[in-house]
Parts: sequence; C-alpha cells; structure tokens
Amino acid sequence: MTDGAKKKILIDTDPGIDDSMAILLAFASPEIDVVGLSTVFGNTGGDVTTQNALRLVELAGRPDIPVARGAEKPLLRPFTGKGWHVHGKNGLGEVEFPEPKVQPDKRRAATFIIDTIMANPGEITLVPLGPLTNVALAVATEPRIAANVKEVVLMGGAASVPGNASPVAEANIRNDPEAAHIVFHAGWPVTMIGLDVTMKTKMTRDDLDRLKAANSPWTDFIHAVTRHYLNFYESLGITDGMPIHDSSAMAYVIDPSLFETKHVYTDVDHQSEHHHGQTVPDWRGQRERDPNVNVALDVDSDRFLAMYERRLTEARP
Ligand code: RIB
Ligand code: CA
Repeated sequence: MTDGAKKKILIDTDPGIDDSMAILLAFASPEIDVVGLSTVFGNTGGDVTTQNALRLVELAGRPDIPVARGAEKPLLRPFTGKGWHVHGKNGLGEVEFPEPKVQPDKRRAATFIIDTIMANPGEITLVPLGPLTNVALAVATEPRIAANVKEVVLMGGAASVPGNASPVAEANIRNDPEAAHIVFHAGWPVTMIGLDVTMKTKMTRDDLDRLKAANSPWTDFIHAVTRHYLNFYESLGITDGMPIHDSSAMAYVIDPSLFETKHVYTDVDHQSEHHHGQTVPDWRGQRERDPNVNVALDVDSDRFLAMYERRLTEARP
C-alpha cells in the first residue's frame, strides 16, 4: 500500500477449512481492513458456512464485523453438497466448536455486497472464496458495483492445469458456472487465483506444527481443523502437504508481487454436460475479445508460506 491506508476487503466465503485459514490471514495482516463477510453454500450448506463465519469473527475478536448470509444453492443447478468429504460435514474438519453468540447481519449477502461497495466507491476489494452465486446476484441486481468496486480477487478456476471437481473444472466455478460466467463478464477488474498457482503452495504437517507452537487461539484452531484436510489430500496420494487454495487469493490481496499474472480474455463454460465450469483463457486471441481477467500463473511459494507463518505466529486476537 503506497499511502499506508489499509485495503478494505469484503470476503465472500464458504468456510470451509482453507477459507478459515484465509480469513485468519486477513485478520493477521496490518494492511487489511476486513469490512465484512458474506457466506455462500459450497464446502457445506449455507446454514453451516454462516455459523462458521460467525465463529471466525468471534475467534478473531471482531464480533462487530457484519456477516451476511447468502445463497443456499446455485442460480440454476441443485446444490450437490459434495464438499463435505474434504472439509467435514460441519465444514471445520469435524472438530466441534461452541455455537457462535453473534447473529448474522439482517441483510442477505447480495444486498450487503451492493451496500458496502456503493457506500465506499473505488475502495472495496471483493474477495470471493467460494461459488460465485452471491457475487453474480449482486452485480445483476446493481450493475453499478462493477464501476465502483476496487477489484475482484477470486479463488477459482484452472487456466492450464486439470480441475479438481472435474477433469477441467475447479470446484468454486463448477459449483455455479452460470454465476461464474456473469462474474467473469461483468466488466470489472477480476484477478483469478486458480489451481495453476494454488496447487503450487503446499503446507506440510511440520509447517502446521510450527504454527501450533505459537500457542495462540488462531494457530490452535488452524492445527485442529487441518487434520481432516491433510488426511483427505493424503488419501488422494498428495503427501507433500495440503494446498491452501483460499489463502493464495488472500496472499495476492496482501502482496500481488508474490504472483505472476497475465491479462487475457477468459470465458467460463456453462453449457457443456461434462465440462461446465471450465475456465478457458484465449492465449492466442482467437476469440478476438478484449482481455477481461488477470490470470495467476506462478507464485513464489516459499515467500508466501513464510509470510503466512510469520503473520499467524505473531498475531494476537
Ligand atoms: O477448489 C478449491 C476451492 O473450493 C476452495 O475455495 C475451497 O474452499 C472450496 O471452496
Ligand atoms: Ca472456499
């Protein structure tokens, strides 16, 4: 940040183990001012993601931060609920936590997103970490947010690597491809932090043990909920650590220099029976369309992981 002002962010999220790690990274970062959370279905149902988001603002010592509940299902398709095998049915690795005391904001997510962006023209960075249903509803309801948002930095997509929810599609995009198509073509500045970079940064059991040694409520929480997540990836044969998908998007918000990106026309397939949710960059300009997405292609994983560890071990709620 050039003038030392904090970057105001609104996080749209489906916590979710890696969402939780990203949200705590935001709270542990002095450059960031979290102005609100909105919740969406995805890793588990909307009632659970909302309860988990409320738990997270309490854990952060910020019960004042509004949490607005959002979409319970995709725009057109049924909610499949397939995320529970990754994040547990309670979205937090089946670790039991007390019910939150704070209540959600009275507004639903799309209204909250519109109100926040229009009240802070040019200042809000929107950080979607789940399916893009709320973001699509917001920009369809109030198109002016496209000209008034600072930028959209989303975790989602796969430009030149295989998908995780299908051979070609990443889960957040696959979960609501129609919403993603609306978001990718709304005419606002979008940065796509996809599997091309999120699969390059893996946090190991040793990394997590070092975090736990900080003995803070945040690092205790992270260590507890990541047991299930580590086991899931190891069951896939990924034994060199767990990808921290959503924290990668948050790291870009904090320090874009960690990433290499390319501005390119990128479409979202929402019509194919088998390939809906595929994000398709037009590297050779064959579609003859102007670039609409800043696609992340590489990341300095060592510097990112060092930042994560430093901030979470030094932070105190
Ligand atoms: O594909 C990874 C994404 O899907 C992450 O946001 C994870 O939390 C799940 O929502
Ligand atoms: Ca997520």
